[in-house]
Order: sequence, then C-alpha cells, then structure tokens
Amino acid sequence: MKKGGFLKRPRSITQKPFTPKTLKPKNTRKLIRRYHVLLKNKSIILKKLNWDKDFQLGKWEKIYKKGFDNANEQLFKLDGLNEAQLVEKLGEIDGEIEKNGGLEVYQIASTQGQSNKRGSDSSKKLIEWIEKFDLKDPTALEIGCLSPENVISTCGIFKSITRIDLHSQHPLIQQQDFMERPLPTSNNDKFNLISCSLVVNFVDSPQGRGEMLKRMTEFLLPQAYLFFVLPLPCIENSRYFNNERMLSIMESLGFVQLNHHNSTKLAYWLFQWTKPMKKRTFKKVELNKGSNKNNFCIVLE
Ligand SMILES: C[S@@+](CC[C@H](N)C(=O)[O-])C[C@H]1O[C@@H](n2cnc3c(N)ncnc32)[C@H](O)[C@@H]1O
Repeated sequence: MKKGGFLKRPRSITQKPFTPKTLKPKNTRKLIRRYHVLLKNKSIILKKLNWDKDFQLGKWEKIYKKGFDNANEQLFKLDGLNEAQLVEKLGEIDGEIEKNGGLEVYQIASTQGQSNKRGSDSSKKLIEWIEKFDLKDPTALEIGCLSPENVISTCGIFKSITRIDLHSQHPLIQQQDFMERPLPTSNNDKFNLISCSLVVNFVDSPQGRGEMLKRMTEFLLPQAYLFFVLPLPCIENSRYFNNERMLSIMESLGFVQLNHHNSTKLAYWLFQWTKPMKKRTFKKVELNKGSNKNNFCIVLE
C-alpha cells in the first residue's frame, strides 16, 4: 500500500498501528469532504455491480486487491467502465479509505469540528430550543454519537439517552447501524426525542437518506421531537435540494417544523412528529441551476 494520506500512522513499540488524535483544521475539512466523495462513489459502483455492502469478492479478489494497493487520490470517472474496471475502482476507493485511517479518522475530524475552537457541539442548539418545553422525564436516541460529553448528555434534561454510532468511541455509545436497529415492539422501545446531527449527509445515496428519515418515525412516540442538522450547503447550494424541499419531505413524513436556524456552516431544525405519514414520493429533480452547485439530494420512494 502506498504511503501518505491525511495522517501518518506511526507504529508503537508493539508495532500496533495507532492514530494520532489531532489534525490540522485544513486537513480536517479536506478529510471529511473526501470521505464523503469516496463513500458516494463506492455506493454508485456497488449499485452498478448490483452488489450489496457486504459483498464477497470471489473471482474478483485479485483485481480488487490491485486497485486497493494502487489507491491514490484521484477523481472518479465511472461512466463506461466494465465489470472488472468497476471492481478495480472499488478496490481503489477502499484502499484510499484505509490509507486515510477509515471511519476512525473521519470521526476524529468530526470531533475536532465540534470542538469550541473550530465550530461547536451542535446539541447546544437543541438544548436552547428544548429547555423551554416542560418535558416530563424525556428519553432520547442520539444517532451518530461521537461523545457522551456533549451538551445533550450533560444538560440534565433527559431521563435517559441511548447513544449509537457505526463505530463506538466510548463504552456509553452502542456500536450499531441505525438502519439495523431492531424496530420497536412497544412504546418502551420508542423515544421522546431523536437527535440526528450530521448523519443523514453521511449516508451515501439519496434513497438511503430518505430511508433513514422514514425509519426514524418508527422510533418516535406520538408528539415526539426530532433534532436534525445538515451542512448548510446541502440546502443552500445543491442542484437537487433546498429548504423548501426539506420541509415538504418532512411534512409528508408527519413532521411539523418548530424551529429552524442557519449558522454560517450548518442548518438546524427542530421538528415535532404529529401524525402518521401520508405516503408521497420525492424524486431527484433539478431545483437550482448552476455549474458550481453540489449534488446533495434526499429521495423518498
Ligand atoms: C459527522 S459525524 C457527526 C457526529 C455528531 N452527531 C455531530 O453532530 O457532530 C457522523 C457520525 O454518524 C455516524 N453514522 C453514520 N451513519 C450511521 C448509521 N447508519 N447508524 C449509526 N451511526 C451512523 C458515523 O459513524 C459518524 O460517527
């Protein structure tokens, strides 16, 4: 595997690789952006190959490994590639993810983005909004939790908080994919609030994002709240998405917007889930023209 990447991974005396805990701010932003690009291209390739995320390589192992070992930061042109070339590209993407430190380093970058020096813990906004309500011993589910020391945990408002993440960095965070969390069998498995900050934009396909939003409604008690955060460019600078579209999708899922705030980098919402959803579909359609737009989108099928 080639050397380089965002972090040099020095070896400890025991030869076990370890990851430094800090990154330069410029690298942090670059790493987060690149990680999302890699995940998006991986999702496109898997779709083209008709493979799921737990794919078995079988006869493709050699060609995948060739890509993996030759990974270097490159742009991905996927049109017109045959099966073997797609598998090689898949290897390159996985190789680059591994070389850059994978989800672990992405989380370090995200945690640094949260630190007061370089941004803020987004749950501060949640507490500012929610503390005005007279909630009786509310329960919360935090999807995509980086730390049990965020304001949502320290504010003392919640009776209990269930924290989950694809990669747990703390014993108080359950390692779990929300999309695989068993569906509630009774109200005891549901919550008064879900916090989902900067997670839906992490999901690599517009359909997957819609599925995640839909699934959240299964875990909410009637009249429960959803605190939701996206990077601002998702609604301010996307070819396929904007705040109006966001609100239409949420309304179709049964949500009413209680609060909305845009900071210089993030868009925050507080929704209340008031009724079961009316089934509606939202396809990927061009809403804003322009060559410098991003392609963020949420699709409901
Ligand atoms: C950018 S971080 C955001 C963390 C934090 N909520 C914040 O606002 O800064 C996104 C986190 O979501 C987690 N995540 C993404 N998809 C997930 C899923 N399906 N289930 C659980 N966690 C997920 C990732 O592992 C990552 O730690």
